[in-house]
Amino acid sequence: MRVLMIGDVVGNGGRKAVTKLLKDLKSELEIDFVTLQGENLAGGIGLTVDNVIEMQEAGADVITTGNHVWDKREFIEHLDDPYLPVLRPLNYPSHNPGRGATDQSGPIAVVNLIGRVWVGEFDSPFAVIDDLLAGGFGQGKPIVVDFHAEATSEKAALAWHLDGRVAAVVGTHTHVPTADYKVLPDGTAFVTDLGMVGARDSILGVEVEGSLARFLSGRHQRMQPQRTGLINFNSVVIEIDSNTGLATGIERVDRQIHI
Ligand SMILES: [Fe+2]
Ligand SMILES: [Fe+2]
Repeated sequence: MRVLMIGDVVGNGGRKAVTKLLKDLKSELEIDFVTLQGENLAGGIGLTVDNVIEMQEAGADVITTGNHVWDKREFIEHLDDPYLPVLRPLNYPSHNPGRGATDQSGPIAVVNLIGRVWVGEFDSPFAVIDDLLAGGFGQGKPIVVDFHAEATSEKAALAWHLDGRVAAVVGTHTHVPTADYKVLPDGTAFVTDLGMVGARDSILGVEVEGSLARFLSGRHQRMQPQRTGLINFNSVVIEIDSNTGLATGIERVDRQIHI
């Protein structure tokens, strides 16, 4: 089985790039299942129901999120909609709306976690996924994990903690793709960060002018995604042995497209 995992899709330009590229990539790479990081789908902050439907129509099976999932207030109630395949990190306090894991959305089970180093106050992602796995989550399906975190060490630590128990741990949140992809000794594929689907000539997908002004002035500035130009499409493909549910390979799939 082959799973494509796509980094944070930023705004209109990112969504257009996914729509233009994903169908062909799925057939070219013989992809069985697609996860997409959607926390920045709506103008860079948050996501909407329309964005989710657009990404499903483009070929995404499950949409994971992160710290920006709450930014579009009108979307929060939809996190509990059983028909929208959207996750929010599982280790937010459990009274929050939404769910952080699904084994009901196809041949692959997906878990979404958020890091605690330089991100925020959450339950321990290590303990929370240990509990989830101890409860029999996955129904025997291979499990992939989107760990939305800042610190490279925290992401690597979670991957080693889960080695041999899940098919993949991939990092998101920094929007910067990393080259350290590998399969750990007991069969868990890992990469520190998937990267993004966002403008090459930008600061993490955001227009240079607004982001730079923030650093120069020390004040909050209006920032918006860079919508046009060359868009980087960053993802990885995980090869999974369906007998063991573990990974046999991981490769980067990075493309560029003019929007
Ligand atoms: Fe992001
Ligand atoms: Fe994030």
